[in-house]
Amino acid sequence: VTVYVPRDSAAKSVGADEVAAAIEQDPRVRLVRNGSRGMLWLEPLVEVVTSAGRIGYGPVALDDVEGLFEAGFLDGAEHPLRVGPVDEQEWLASQTRVTFARVGVVDPLSTEDYEWHGGMVGLRRALELSQEQVVTEVTESGLRGRGGAGFPTGIKWKTVLGAKSELKFVCCNADEGDSGTFADRMLMEGDPFTLIEGMTIAAYAVGATEGYIYVRSEYPDAVATLRQAIDIAYAHGWLGARVLGADFSFELVVRVGAGAYICGEETSMLESLEGKRGMIRAKPPIPALHGLFGKPTVVNNVLSLGTVPMILADGPKAFAEYGIGRSRGTQVFQLAGNIARGGIVETAFGITLGDLVQRYGGGSRSGRPVRAVQVGGPLGAYLPAEQFDLPMDYESFAAAGAMVGHGGIVVFDDTVDMAHQARFAMEFCAEESCGKCTPCRIGSVRGVEVIDKIIAGHNRSQNLVVLDDLCDLMTDGSLCAMGGLTPMPVRSAMKHFPEDFQKLPTENF
Ligand code: NAI
Repeated sequence: VTVYVPRDSAAKSVGADEVAAAIEQDPRVRLVRNGSRGMLWLEPLVEVVTSAGRIGYGPVALDDVEGLFEAGFLDGAEHPLRVGPVDEQEWLASQTRVTFARVGVVDPLSTEDYEWHGGMVGLRRALELSQEQVVTEVTESGLRGRGGAGFPTGIKWKTVLGAKSELKFVCCNADEGDSGTFADRMLMEGDPFTLIEGMTIAAYAVGATEGYIYVRSEYPDAVATLRQAIDIAYAHGWLGARVLGADFSFELVVRVGAGAYICGEETSMLESLEGKRGMIRAKPPIPALHGLFGKPTVVNNVLSLGTVPMILADGPKAFAEYGIGRSRGTQVFQLAGNIARGGIVETAFGITLGDLVQRYGGGSRSGRPVRAVQVGGPLGAYLPAEQFDLPMDYESFAAAGAMVGHGGIVVFDDTVDMAHQARFAMEFCAEESCGKCTPCRIGSVRGVEVIDKIIAGHNRSQNLVVLDDLCDLMTDGSLCAMGGLTPMPVRSAMKHFPEDFQKLPTENF
């Protein structure tokens, strides 16, 4: 009997390894360590393959294993932890999984599984097309950078393709530093070949021969999985000289960061990859023209590159049919914070914020009313529950003074103090600033001080004006999004929750 127990680090953090070891003791079991389905409240989610499909049990603790065997779970029998056929769970079945189509389904390191589930179709097709045709297909799909900025991926590739150079690079930004985000990690751990295939397609399209995946050091499981997957890919002729027998070679390596949030900014990442301290470079020149070691470089996020194989396999139209306005395709939303059902919701752009938080997320985990939601990481806006009808797309969010970013959604209940959250944004910037530009390095420290004064009730009206001025200066004067976007959470907190900035000083202690 085939039994799946995730090897994803979210599942491991709640005991999946111990559960897997106990289940494997039974000689009838063929154990497969899959990625996570993204229903994190059910982890460790154990799946048994039966004639009625994959039956899930979760969350399974080590102590539950004996009882599961006694109940006959290998036949899909009833048990208090039985959740039923996993693919039919409303939470999962109602999603549109494109980028995450294989995550949680396959054995991440099985090439047979990968090809059986549609892997390598995109790359094979790409190699039959010209470089220009591949770039055109990616452009026509409407794919925009999933790292957060939403720049059209095809246009970026076109710039690199058009740049004249003997040497070009493809760099994958896997320095997923945003609070409440984990989609890059889950893709790398659950379906690493997708990323490898996507990077290979990018390399072919722009004429690059070397690639780097820059992974944050906090993701040791992702690093290990990627390294194994890359070795396997080389052994299979999916990487190296003459990829899939074609007249095209691509070398790929993993590099591990050292724990700086700023290295998620593309130019800092390039500095770090070159062995230097992770500090911002002024743009222009853009990395597409002057990137790693000064050569034309594609820098894309894990999810952008991981979506490319599907676009090439199914054609750009299939992808572009999803979504609304200029936000095409699906987005991998990540539900986190004080939420009843956290995890991965991949769906077309256009779903409302409220649908994600309430229908999928089930509201707050504490059971108290949801008061604020931060979308798009620590530099994203805080939105009140009154804005739950906002559609999730780049333009609607920008119009509301917010950003979709990397798709992370962090939920807070009514015990949150938004003046303290605003302070946290400035503190985070002060902590993580690379120090190169003054508005970010000094502005964030002054920001913490002035918010402290506001909280303490010190010359409040004047200090609110000072804070507003400071936000203007950081937005306009910072070299990159670190200092430039820190005002977004601060201002949104002031705008939507002004009462928290007017509390009596005694209420704060
Ligand atoms: P950006 O708008 O400056 O650039 C976006 C991308 O487009 C870059 O790769 C840039 O090189 C490229 N680009 C711009 N103009 C181009 C042109 N004419 N031709 C070719 N390529 C061009 O934004 P930036 O500073 O790269 O990213 C900011 C975003 O990062 C924020 O909106 C935020 O959502 C996100 N972010 C994500 C984090 C994460 O952990 N995923 C963490 C922090 C921020």
